[in-house]
Amino acid sequence: MVKDYTKKSERDWVIYSLRMRASRDGMHISGAEKILPKDKLSSGLVGLFSRAMDHGIGNPDEIHFTIEEIKDEILYTDSLPISTVLTDGLEDSKGKASKLLNLLCISEKAIIRAFDDISSGASPDRMNMRGAMFIDIDSGERLEPDHYRGVRVSRMGFLLEAEEALRIEMERVGVYGQRLKEAISLATKVSMSKTVAELCWSDNPDYTTGYVASKRHGYVRFPDLKKEGDMAGGRAFFLKGSETDLNSYITFLQEKAVLIRSITPGFSPCTWEEFLKRYED
Ligand code: COA
Ligand code: AMP
Repeated sequence: MVKDYTKKSERDWVIYSLRMRASRDGMHISGAEKILPKDKLSSGLVGLFSRAMDHGIGNPDEIHFTIEEIKDEILYTDSLPISTVLTDGLEDSKGKASKLLNLLCISEKAIIRAFDDISSGASPDRMNMRGAMFIDIDSGERLEPDHYRGVRVSRMGFLLEAEEALRIEMERVGVYGQRLKEAISLATKVSMSKTVAELCWSDNPDYTTGYVASKRHGYVRFPDLKKEGDMAGGRAFFLKGSETDLNSYITFLQEKAVLIRSITPGFSPCTWEEFLKRYED
């Protein structure tokens, strides 16, 4: 039976945001977070500790854990469904991801801005940003208040039953990885805001699959969205600037607790044409 108590006063359980970030010489190495009931906190801590220590980039010299009771209302949602579009290398992936963004009424200018900025280092010093950039869907202007930091989405996770269901769903559609789970939780929360679409690829040089996520098409993976060995990565959230109150948008992304309570069935990897067919009507 899925627990579904929306407000703190109606909940019979105490629930926490557990967050980890690890760094070396002041440089961020890894970060992850969960939302857990009290009795799962210690095993959650151990799991995130292993994540911090086992990162491919190297050993951290500092690890920070934050455990915070969530006192406010929690939003519950279903996950975005997973699709994977089969492509023929980098240019094909970029082309198809761009077409998908275009189908969501995002202007050419905005799409080019996102691809150019992420591939060349989106912060003003041409390094990766510490969070996501915002791009106006019409003008292509950058809208986030701090172009070095961006905005980091936080306080999202899965109910335990849903996390297990996602594991089974990922096996069913033939995709793998802890990173994917976390990206789905982040993208699902983002899709609940005024974000029209999200474009992301990792800054990890070995992880070349990126995605476009939106309420309309779900979480759509594109293999080879960047070259192997490329350290540049980032996230762009496309939004209609004239219709978005940036303060409340940022507060939602950073602060609002969101729990995924069930997993929407996705699809096995398919061609672009097969993918489009699903949305013909
Ligand atoms: N890159 C670079 N620096 C980072 C960082 C990142 N991704 N995340 C945190 N930091 C550093 C920054 O110096 C930051 O200060 P800033 O706010 O001026 O940028 C500082 O750590 C504190 O960050 P904060 O977010 O306040 O820490 P936190 O302990 O509350 O949460 C995370 C840290 C990493 C768990 C959280 O920010 C996050 O990103 N959660 C989502 C993780 C996730 O699921 N990602 C999916 C990836 S597929
Ligand atoms: P990652 O998927 O962890 O490799 O992160 C890819 C990029 O996404 C990073 O370079 C940041 O620019 C951005 N990013 C990292 N964490 C977050 C977050 N919590 N919310 C939004 N953007 C993030």
